[in-house]
Amino acid sequence: MPRPFLLDTDAGVDDALAIILALRSPEISVRAITTVAGNVEVGKCTRNVNYLVDLLQPPRRPEIAQGAAKPLKRALVTAPEVHGKDGLGGVAPQGSPSLPVAKNAVDVILERCALAEKKLTIVALGPLTNLALAWKKKPQVLRKVGKIVSMGGAFRVHGNTGPVAEFNYYVDPDAAHIVLNSGLPVTVIPLDVTEQVVLMRKEVEYRAKRRASTVARFILSGTRHYMQYHRQTEGFSGGYLHDPIAVAAAVWPSIIETKKASVDVETQGELTRGMSVAEFRRHSSQRKPTVHLATRIDREIFLRLFHERLWK
Ligand code: BDR
Ligand code: CA
Repeated sequence: MPRPFLLDTDAGVDDALAIILALRSPEISVRAITTVAGNVEVGKCTRNVNYLVDLLQPPRRPEIAQGAAKPLKRALVTAPEVHGKDGLGGVAPQGSPSLPVAKNAVDVILERCALAEKKLTIVALGPLTNLALAWKKKPQVLRKVGKIVSMGGAFRVHGNTGPVAEFNYYVDPDAAHIVLNSGLPVTVIPLDVTEQVVLMRKEVEYRAKRRASTVARFILSGTRHYMQYHRQTEGFSGGYLHDPIAVAAAVWPSIIETKKASVDVETQGELTRGMSVAEFRRHSSQRKPTVHLATRIDREIFLRLFHERLWK
């Protein structure tokens, strides 16, 4: 039986690759995709998710619901320089991004937790605003989640949003603080791990040429802007696979190594907003180490599965 999943996403370029990977993994069944403001405004995230689901045509269409339009306490910060103004490197369908949305993401997250009774995996690919709101609204229902995998944080590497913070935790540090202190079963996939893997432009071009499908064409054109950004900022022609690694870690947990820690995020600092901090030493921590913090990934296995699924 495929395991039930819910993806919560700010629908940028690496989110799109993560959604493709998840929708093409028969080990899981993506029951819902919820959106949250982050890489782009939330209406664009919802438009992008609808576009991707139409493109992928999964056998069972996931429920799509729109969530928070801004972080809990702060103004929204987006990343058009990384993902393009539309979030998909300029290839998202034109026109109004606002679509009729029946239910709110927070309610869908709670409903799905209640339905799956400890079996639901939530993979959070953006700021943790929706999950923090769900926790505030009905903590007893969110406790029915099986597992939460959150892409976020930078522990022993530089941040990607200022010197010390990773983007998702920088955008909504207050939400990250709430979720990471909730005691819920959270696995954190930080930049320390996601930056161990790079997808090179040459490889995308090589593989896309051999695959005459609309999904392959989307991957080729949708990643162009993202990869140019990495060339300018990181010096290589390619891109990091932050969000696909979070999906992979949830689908195949054995490809990552984790350490238990108590993890928190800076919400007060002027220079350190969104900085993530881990305490591994039990005796010196005031709090129980409830978070599974990823420290390593098996790159070969991940890349094999990633390419196998993306270009099929
Ligand atoms: C994270 O920030 C976003 O820009 C990416 O989609 C990813 O979720 C990486 O820091
Ligand atoms: Ca993301």
